[in-house]
Amino acid sequence: MKKGRIILDRDYRVAETDPRIFGSFLEHLGRAVYEGIYQPGNPFSDERGYRKDTMELINALQVPIIRYPGGNFVSNYNWEDTVGPKENRPPRLDLAWRTIEPNTFGLDEFVDWCRAAGTAPMMAVNLGTRGAENARDVIEYCNIEKGSKFSDLRRKYGHEKPHDIRLWCLGNEMDGPWQTGAKTATEYGRLAEETAKIMRAVDPSIELVACGSCGVNISTFGTWDATVLSHCYDYVDYLSMHQYFDLNENADAKDFLANTLSMDNFIKSVASICDYVKAVKKSKKTINISFDEWNVWYHSKAADAKADPWCLAPHLLEDIYNFMDALLVGGMLITLLKHADRVKIACLAQLVNVIAPIMTSDTGAWRQTIYWPYLHASLYGRGTVLQTLVDAPKYDSKNYTDVPYLDSVAVQNDEQNRITIFALNRDLDEDMEVTTDLRQYEGYHVARHIVMTHADLEAINDEAHPNNVVPVEGGNSKLDAGVLTSVLPAKSWNVIILEK
Ligand code: AHR
Repeated sequence: MKKGRIILDRDYRVAETDPRIFGSFLEHLGRAVYEGIYQPGNPFSDERGYRKDTMELINALQVPIIRYPGGNFVSNYNWEDTVGPKENRPPRLDLAWRTIEPNTFGLDEFVDWCRAAGTAPMMAVNLGTRGAENARDVIEYCNIEKGSKFSDLRRKYGHEKPHDIRLWCLGNEMDGPWQTGAKTATEYGRLAEETAKIMRAVDPSIELVACGSCGVNISTFGTWDATVLSHCYDYVDYLSMHQYFDLNENADAKDFLANTLSMDNFIKSVASICDYVKAVKKSKKTINISFDEWNVWYHSKAADAKADPWCLAPHLLEDIYNFMDALLVGGMLITLLKHADRVKIACLAQLVNVIAPIMTSDTGAWRQTIYWPYLHASLYGRGTVLQTLVDAPKYDSKNYTDVPYLDSVAVQNDEQNRITIFALNRDLDEDMEVTTDLRQYEGYHVARHIVMTHADLEAINDEAHPNNVVPVEGGNSKLDAGVLTSVLPAKSWNVIILEK
């Protein structure tokens, strides 16, 4: 059995987690909205058409914010078509995913649904086919109480109180050549600056996210981010990051699980770029990170390439996640938590049916494998992130060197008298004995050690077998004379909860 060590010091803190780091994303794409959260007439739906079974699984996750309505979808979005009497709403072509958007679930329904789901909207504006004027109108519709064209329109449509949306994205992936209305960094930087000024003039209390590079591999990465911020730095609060991991033909499981090293590097690079612009501008303000799309995404790509265009709610991006994907998602959550000082917002992309932890059919809803680490992080990752030093054997894989077999982060929550250690054993064959010196933490005991492991990396959950890959209680952790000794099974996700 390999051996590892975790070193914690109660005074070495990274930051408080912003709860919005456990956010998610719902795009008008495939069956995310239609059939996912909204399906009038389905026996699982309530009188508003909300899927109650999906809502229950979302409630359990305690998702603090949900980004909406895209994604690529937003770059051709006409919000006005989505409000008012449903019989007057025109169906539109969604150019991003080449489907028909019926607009029977729109902006007001989304805000109502968020309230019912105990979450908050994070709204994106269309800076692809539209611009600052349209952003001005939609924020007036959402956040102004009354006495103006769009605030009174909202009242006329049945919402007397403002929607009060606090967080707004200035477009989506505007650097991506596939984006409807993609822009150069200078074009977008200027547009983001002026749109931000106008939106803040309507409601100065909002927070704004500018589009960073859509990924680390795009050729303009770095220069895009610095140029965009050189224009809009004073008017925005966050720069966005997006990252999806794919099991490409060159990679194996060891390599796939090492991908968090790339995510870690990406975050450090983007934080450095934000700080570079801060230094150049001699600014006192710090731009933080909104990692508003992250996940594993590869299973559905071949099928999606053959999809027919212009359908209603087609099966698109319906990745069926396996156990190995859940391990990487656990590692990605550890990485986000480790950077809690800079990553203040993060959205698992997405929430239902589309690259999602939750799947639905006409006859039910179930949890995919990746649901579990996301649930654990959201429930037990709130508090103060501790600098978590890991001393463990390392391996080399096809694309990475010096990959620690053990990845871990600890979160201290004084209100709950709780310390949670999240730990991933990347070793596919051997268990690992991990010791953590907890002598600084008197009076704690091991309350739970949750373990998720499976003999088959490709094991999945589906409607017929929803509990094939699930976490179990009763992992092997003992606290003796201030030293915690835990045995982490080969290829496992672990959540060790200490309480006093
Ligand atoms: O989440 C799926 C898509 O991935 C989003 O629409 C887009 O922003 C990204 O490329």
